[in-house]
Amino acid sequence: MIKRIGVLTSGGDCAGLNAAIRAITYRAIQTYGWHVFGIHNGTTGLIVRPLDYRELTVEFCNSMMMRSGGTILGSTNKSDPFNFPDATGKRIDRSQDFCDGYRELQLDALIGIGGDGSMRILRHLALKGNLNLVTIPKTIDNDLGHTESAIGYPTAVEVATEALDRLQPTAASHQRVMILEVMGRDAGHIALSAGIAGGADIILIPEVPYSLDKITQKISSLADLGRTFALIIVAEAVKTENNEPVVLDADNGRVRYGGIGQYLADKISESTGADIRVMVLGHVQRGGQPCAQDRILAAALGVHAVDLISKGKFDRMVAWKNRRVEDVPIEDAIKQFQQVDTQGTMIRTARGLGISLGD
Ligand code: F6P
Repeated sequence: MIKRIGVLTSGGDCAGLNAAIRAITYRAIQTYGWHVFGIHNGTTGLIVRPLDYRELTVEFCNSMMMRSGGTILGSTNKSDPFNFPDATGKRIDRSQDFCDGYRELQLDALIGIGGDGSMRILRHLALKGNLNLVTIPKTIDNDLGHTESAIGYPTAVEVATEALDRLQPTAASHQRVMILEVMGRDAGHIALSAGIAGGADIILIPEVPYSLDKITQKISSLADLGRTFALIIVAEAVKTENNEPVVLDADNGRVRYGGIGQYLADKISESTGADIRVMVLGHVQRGGQPCAQDRILAAALGVHAVDLISKGKFDRMVAWKNRRVEDVPIEDAIKQFQQVDTQGTMIRTARGLGISLGD
């Protein structure tokens, strides 16, 4: 008998998380009459004592919340309960505290909204503590298997497209090559989608190896056609021509990409003499209002997650497939890293438009 459920957001934030929290709260209270508890700061809210949470109500989850970016619950990608930093910074196993926290709050089930890393940890916790877990996919990188879209991805594509829309007139006015570096970690989904939507001339993604010669050839061919500017969009994990990753640093053992745009600018200006500017879009892709598609996705996935709990179906991730919500075993979703399909529609579309992929 379900009476009390928890919800937490884990990993990097993105647009659409609040819309998902609202959908969960509405469905759980209005349809089933349950109590909903928002756990603060990812898994941390159930590890610390006193527990850190707030009860969510329909009144609290008003329509302003659905429109807002970030997560009202807070999030973190640095507090794996199996490897949790203590006061001195030493890493210790606090997973039992998390499981005890779930019992102390008398939860009957937990909804975790996260990407592959968070889902892996949450599943590990659920198996250890025999917790009833359902997950909702969110990641601007859209690299999770078994779902066509994760919460946050549509908004990130909108933001990157708008950046190209704004870069184009200034590139044209000054006869420049503009390079836009976007996020996405090891998958090129944001760059490819925004590149098509925003009229890029060259799209570079980790899945398609490029050569600098092909890039300069494309720029020359545009010049031959009378075009005096070019737009390039590059995914952050694209490597140098010698196959070296371009990274800023490693944060808690996880590399932070950054700098491929400037690397390309230096190389292209050396060989073409072009006037080049680089824009690194960064975290604006994660913040701000969710676009309509993200709100719809968050609503559909949130409602379905609650319905799964009502049916006693656990250890499942809700997914968006073929214009509808479905659910799959969490294990299957995290096993499959979803890079861009180099033979797929999006690549074929880009090539069909005459966009160079640098190969
Ligand atoms: O995974 C989401 C993401 O935004 C990546 O696209 C990016 O590489 C990374 O997180 C940035 O992480 P942080 O917020 O820790 O700088």
